[in-house]
Amino acid sequence: MTMSSSNGITTSAVVGTVFAGFASFLIITNMSRMLGRAKTSYYYGKKSIQLRTRDGRETSLADLCKSILPPCQLNPFLFNGHLQTIWSILKSKSSPIYYKRWLFEQQDPAYPGTFAVDFVVKPYEPKDTILPRTTNYTKNEFDNIGSDDSKPMLVCLHGLSGGSYELYLRSVLAPLVTEEGGWEACVINSRGCAKSKITTPILFNARSTWDLRQTVKWLRETFPNRPLYGVGFSLGANILTNYLGEEGANCQFKAAVALSNPWSLDVSNAGLQSTWFKRNIYSRAMGTNLKKLYGYHKDVVLKNSAIDDQEVKNVRFLHEFDRAIQCPTWGYPTEQAYYRDASSTDSVLAIRIPFLAISAQDDPIVCDFAIPRQEFLQTPYGVLCTTSLGGHLGWFKPAGGRWMADATNAFFQKMAREVDQEHYSKNHPLPEGEIVMAKREPLRPWFDPMRRKMHAEA
Ligand SMILES: *[C@@H]1O[C@H](CO)[C@@H](O)[C@H](O)[C@H]1NC(C)=O
Repeated sequence: MTMSSSNGITTSAVVGTVFAGFASFLIITNMSRMLGRAKTSYYYGKKSIQLRTRDGRETSLADLCKSILPPCQLNPFLFNGHLQTIWSILKSKSSPIYYKRWLFEQQDPAYPGTFAVDFVVKPYEPKDTILPRTTNYTKNEFDNIGSDDSKPMLVCLHGLSGGSYELYLRSVLAPLVTEEGGWEACVINSRGCAKSKITTPILFNARSTWDLRQTVKWLRETFPNRPLYGVGFSLGANILTNYLGEEGANCQFKAAVALSNPWSLDVSNAGLQSTWFKRNIYSRAMGTNLKKLYGYHKDVVLKNSAIDDQEVKNVRFLHEFDRAIQCPTWGYPTEQAYYRDASSTDSVLAIRIPFLAISAQDDPIVCDFAIPRQEFLQTPYGVLCTTSLGGHLGWFKPAGGRWMADATNAFFQKMAREVDQEHYSKNHPLPEGEIVMAKREPLRPWFDPMRRKMHAEA
């Protein structure tokens, strides 16, 4: 374009046009924000795995995800990540779910202690509740829990210091476990959470995959015909992602979903401390919740003589709790060393089952820089969907309810009902330890995404 007046275009007209274009761009961007329309973006490898549906059609995992995730239309009044996140604490449509609990004893001598698993059961008249609608299984009931039915079963991992009762978790579970949803489900409570007692000083951490591993093994034996699936929320998503990477080609899950994963924990932590508001609203709230949890279990936790009660009492923020508790529990020199080692970003590269991750770009707890887009571009097994709006485990829709629940349900029902998982498993036998990124030639160095610094296995 020339800037002459002969064809009627003057410099000022050009400037004006550019300015008007820019202004309308801003208005449109903000309009869509004001209208609650989130922009979704997808990240996945060029060779996204091919799935076959039961009617014989082939589709890639990426195309399947893109075609079934509903448009992300959120409540326009909750127009940023803070509002979406805080709303989830203030108000949410309740989805009553009834649980029965069983305490398992960890078999792995490296992580001794008990952990509580809450199984979704049909509504009943609860007596002696631990939490609302949650009671213990009797020994007799539990001994007869096994079944050879082939219903799909979902294993859930909640967020930091939460539990099976969390509204965000129930919102995802509720539509699946109805009569017509047809699913069974259980929630593994992180040690010490959801009013569960601990018997050793060990709580949970972002890499604590051992209780999940034992539960899946037990489920496999107790329900031999049920296809198993996993979903993780926030910290639980980080644990789940690490677990999927550790299991690699031997993973018993047919597919899994990670919601609002903090991914690169050191980057998330830096983001969380980057503004006064984030420090004092979110990090402080998480620090306070964790201190409360410590308060319940202090007598047992302090059996670890490396933990200093006064230091824990002085904790205000999340990272200070990690410094005071996680470092002396697991032998990390600093909380940053713990964050780097327990991050689930590299684990993405070792996953060998269909894996969907959903993260909001305006999540105030997990900053956008922590999301591992490059890793998803390098794996055929994962699809990452980012949304421009949604907050942390928020994604509230205009009429209530959460988009993340719709998206997760659409994915799981499609995988369970329409995808021929047998075909998929048979056609994707991967040599153990194969790495996506590096061509592994004999005597050449290679990249092992699962090699960590805290030696979790002998
Ligand atoms: C549930 O079981 C635990 C562990 O056996 C026990 O400590 C607790 O008191 C029981 N709770 C109720 C409400 O029965």
